[in-house]
Amino acid sequence: MPEEIIDLNAIAAYGRPINSSNTSKEVTFNQVHLILYGDPSTKLIYDSAHKYFNKTLDQTYPHTYLKKDVFSSLIQKIHPSLKLQFVVEIGSFTGNSASNIGNVLKESYPGSFLLCIDTWLGDLNMWVHKAVWQHLSVSEDGRPTVYYQFLTNIIKQNLTKIVLPASMTSIIGARFLRTFQFHPQVIYLDSAHEQGETLIELSLYWNLLQPGGILIGDDWGWRSVRCDVKKFSYMKNVTIERAENTWIIKKPVD
Ligand SMILES: C[S@@+](CC[C@H](N)C(=O)[O-])C[C@H]1O[C@@H](n2cnc3c(N)ncnc32)[C@H](O)[C@@H]1O
Repeated sequence: MPEEIIDLNAIAAYGRPINSSNTSKEVTFNQVHLILYGDPSTKLIYDSAHKYFNKTLDQTYPHTYLKKDVFSSLIQKIHPSLKLQFVVEIGSFTGNSASNIGNVLKESYPGSFLLCIDTWLGDLNMWVHKAVWQHLSVSEDGRPTVYYQFLTNIIKQNLTKIVLPASMTSIIGARFLRTFQFHPQVIYLDSAHEQGETLIELSLYWNLLQPGGILIGDDWGWRSVRCDVKKFSYMKNVTIERAENTWIIKKPVD
């Protein structure tokens, strides 16, 4: 089996990283906001959210397993001295797990932030089996509006300086981070869980993770997830830890 699953240097736009040094640099909420949307001191994205779809706080999406205490205790157990500054979530939906992570960061890690990478277009279960369909909030003309629910939920919990959304596919999100050489200490993977796509996500985000960092994922109960996570751990010779439906892999320091 080849060691690398995907060529990590084959970035479509311009072909090479903008920050070409290989040293990881500290990244802030303001920096990423500036790159994606402009200066947050004059044009914070949350300021315009109320113009669209008039949503109110809604935390009723039922399948959030990453609660505040689960996130904190995982960090404490796996790497208690890990200094969290930059966390990435792939798959945020209405923002329940994002809020849980965001609140932990706000309380315990001053200056840190969470980047939420999601298309906000849902997954196969939602479209085919209509699972949690109402939370996708599809407009009459066929477009999910759950992104505005996410924004509203983050605003209502005063997390607008801690949680930053990026409406991208997981692959584009990884390429974005690689382009700027932004390396998170913790990554939470909870996207579509399709077999093959999960393996690519694992491969891309593993390479972005800081040495000593932690990769956490949801839905060990899904066969597609288990297959890809096990394949990945075999190929990289790393150990999978489990906490119920959550799986965890710690990246060695070198
Ligand atoms: C199960 S939901 C996430 C739930 C959330 N983490 C929680 O616990 O509250 C899965 C999310 O993954 C997103 N998603 C699916 N495929 C994706 C992809 N290829 N790239 C980015 N996001 C994706 C969907 O839009 C959806 O919002």
